[in-house]
Amino acid sequence: MTNDDSIRDLLRGLPVFAAGTPPFDPDTAPEDPLDLFRSWFAGAVEAGVPEPHAMVVATADGRGVPSARVVIMKDLSARGWWFATTTTSRKGRELARNQGAALTFHWKEQGRQVRVRGVAEHAGAEASAEDFRRRPLESRVAGLHGRQSEPLDELAEIDRAAGASRERLEHAPDLAPDDWGLYAVVPHEVEFWQGDPDRRHVRLRYERPDADSAWERGLLWP
Ligand SMILES: Cc1cc2nc3c(=O)[nH]c(=O)nc-3n(C[C@H](O)[C@H](O)[C@H](O)COP(=O)(O)O)c2cc1C
Repeated sequence: MTNDDSIRDLLRGLPVFAAGTPPFDPDTAPEDPLDLFRSWFAGAVEAGVPEPHAMVVATADGRGVPSARVVIMKDLSARGWWFATTTTSRKGRELARNQGAALTFHWKEQGRQVRVRGVAEHAGAEASAEDFRRRPLESRVAGLHGRQSEPLDELAEIDRAAGASRERLEHAPDLAPDDWGLYAVVPHEVEFWQGDPDRRHVRLRYERPDADSAWERGLLWP
């Protein structure tokens, strides 16, 4: 048996929607997708979905080639979904050229997915520094030496950099690096996907041309 065969065998045995799925009636959905997100998110927390605040953020480089990675949702406000990262990382550099971004939440225990398309707006130096100062010490240590997404010669370099960062923070606890960035993804499209074991999945999409317009919504073929 080749490696490909064994992966295929493993794949064939894997169930989807094994835990069953909660009901979702799109006719009763609120007018604002952020309200529906709040309700689904609270449902995910209540159902014990692990790390429900982990979301995939997709960006694209200057040639339109996409890249995606998981980050933690820091907040949800009327403006949109918030996350924090280094502006000098791959995603930070890509967002500086092209603010277009997409988010995906996957709450597999409930067969649910939420997809967001929008514009990632940098919250500004002051808000970013404030976000940094509120982070736990180890996160600030890592953020202070930064260099996220740069090539690394050996793991020991991280320990050396962390030692230096810890010392700097001991002397100046309010330090915040210039390349720390807080971003809000302002949505123009939000889709709620409710999986169904019988494959009668429900897709409800909200769209608006810009942040000042009202949301329109409609169903999509699954
Ligand atoms: C569960 C989880 C949470 C993460 N949260 C963050 C985060 O909040 N901010 C961040 O910059 N990277 C976070 N990362 C690391 C990113 O996935 C990624 O490796 C890093 O941001 C570099 O991405 P880039 O090179 O595409 O810019 C997280 C990874 C995982 C698996």
